[in-house]
Amino acid sequence: MSETDSPDSIQPQTDQSRRRLLLAGTGIVGAVGAGLAAWPFVASWKPSAKARMVGAPVEVFIGDLEPGQMTRVQWRGQAIGIMRRTERMLAELEGLGDRLRDPGSDVTGQQPEYAKNTYRSIRPEILVLNIHCTHLGCVPELRPEIEAQPFDQNWKGGFYCPCHKSTFDLAGRVFRGVPAQLNLLVPPYHFIDEDRIVVGVDPEQGVA
Ligand code: FES
Repeated sequence: MSETDSPDSIQPQTDQSRRRLLLAGTGIVGAVGAGLAAWPFVASWKPSAKARMVGAPVEVFIGDLEPGQMTRVQWRGQAIGIMRRTERMLAELEGLGDRLRDPGSDVTGQQPEYAKNTYRSIRPEILVLNIHCTHLGCVPELRPEIEAQPFDQNWKGGFYCPCHKSTFDLAGRVFRGVPAQLNLLVPPYHFIDEDRIVVGVDPEQGVA
């Protein structure tokens, strides 16, 4: 394999001190306090310098990612969030259609074809998302709590961009009436097995 098609193997470490669990709905929703600094990182991962330079695909271990948690990696200089959504989170996504600008992910180029579904993912529970705001590129905060927020009294969990107040659901779909016009990008990725994914490789087309 060449450098560009050899995944950079990563196994994030859990940061227990930044994680708290919230009980919600039908089960335990592992979640976190608001804000980027308090994300429920299973890991804050740093790829090798060589991998960053060549934009190599990135292999990520998600076996220890608990329901409601998100880890973050970098791929091609972009922050990629990988989240294991709960059953309740998935259920809430189904009822948001009218509030969203592009609920069916009909805008081409914002996701691979295999992520063109309600959950915008290959496996419903695993979200893989470029978490740079589609307005001007800030990194939105994860707000996973399914409860009223100052910016949305009917909040079902999602991402809030503090720069100009754009909001996205937990599939990265943009809400109506905010500055951002497009859903968050879903990068190419695929599963190696149950616990490992590779970001940057499309399962059908090879290295992106
Ligand atoms: S950069 Fe996110 S709303 Fe402007």
